Amino acid sequence: MARILVTGGTGYIGSHTVVCLQEQGYDVVIVDNLSNSNIEVLDGIEAITGRRPDFENLDCANYIHMDRLFARYPDIEAIIHFAASKAIGESVEQPLKYYSNNVGSLLTLLKLMQAHGVNSLVFSSSCTVYGQPDTAHLPVDETAPLQPALSPYGHTKQINEQIIRDTCYADSNLHAAILRYFNPIGAHPSAMIGELPNGVPANLLPFVTQTAAGVRKCLKIFGNDYNTPDGTCIRDYIYVMDLAKAHVKAVDRMLAGKGRAQVEVFNLGTGRGWSVMEIVKAFMDATGVRVPYEIVGRREGDIEQVWANPTRANKVLGWSADTPMEEVLMSAWNWEKKLRNL
Ligand code: UD1
Repeated sequence: MARILVTGGTGYIGSHTVVCLQEQGYDVVIVDNLSNSNIEVLDGIEAITGRRPDFENLDCANYIHMDRLFARYPDIEAIIHFAASKAIGESVEQPLKYYSNNVGSLLTLLKLMQAHGVNSLVFSSSCTVYGQPDTAHLPVDETAPLQPALSPYGHTKQINEQIIRDTCYADSNLHAAILRYFNPIGAHPSAMIGELPNGVPANLLPFVTQTAAGVRKCLKIFGNDYNTPDGTCIRDYIYVMDLAKAHVKAVDRMLAGKGRAQVEVFNLGTGRGWSVMEIVKAFMDATGVRVPYEIVGRREGDIEQVWANPTRANKVLGWSADTPMEEVLMSAWNWEKKLRNL
């Protein structure tokens, strides 16, 4: 079976995707510099799948190191490129870190794909590229106009999408699938891998589970005066295992080579929006654990509401994200309990 290079493969979405790839018979080599992940993730992947993926501790922006890697693994047939910095607030404070890391690693990979004849790329993008879509564009599909990015992080996703388009336009051998994720949550049902936020979590679900576990005193809900039914923001929360499976479908499609355009863009979401309040309540209902919360002011840069129209991915990839929310929230809670020995 084909070998897939997974950059950022010990990270949150990467590790779940490696599990799904191996379960479908793919061979995997992970490249990760462990800047925001942990080597023990490999133990979790091995425990779940019975196979330890090859692992290389490298910075994938480093051309010389990556060139050697491609030479060592001449059987790489496709790349899934997750490796990137992803903290919005940090990107505002350290824009150059984001531009050099996120853009630099993609440039290195594209050059090496051409040098080593690897033609298929799956790229991790984000619904952040849509900004706040007009209500007429909700749920948002792939044809919705992109909006000026609100952070350097978001801007790197837009720039990278354009770099991929330009490079594929100039080189007809190259193919890419650009996957725009909505809000990934949850953990593998075994609780052997999951999300490992660094320090105080910025994202909603890890903050909810840490509050439920008593690590944080109180969840702050950022604003209840938005123009939504309960006043809190709305997002499309997608189970990380459903998201991971979409990557396998995208790789299958690229390698099969039939009927696909040179660059394809897919929204990966459930098609249903949940408010912050609905998520907090659903978590308490699913787990039976109380989450103390308070309403505070809006968080700067937050978008009021966005959720996906995933029809293209449903039809073209033959994929849908349909794990019930209760199950997803339980998986997040089981993972948190395991981390805290509860
Ligand atoms: C954003 C981006 C997403 C990006 C991600 C990276 C958008 C629409 N989404 O996610 O593309 O990949 O950042 O981190 O731009 N909230 C609270 N209390 C908390 C934490 C969050 O109320 O302690 C609320 C937020 O205000 C928001 C919702 O929960 O309404 C989700 O927030 P978060 O999990 O941070 O994700 P996004 O900001 O949507």
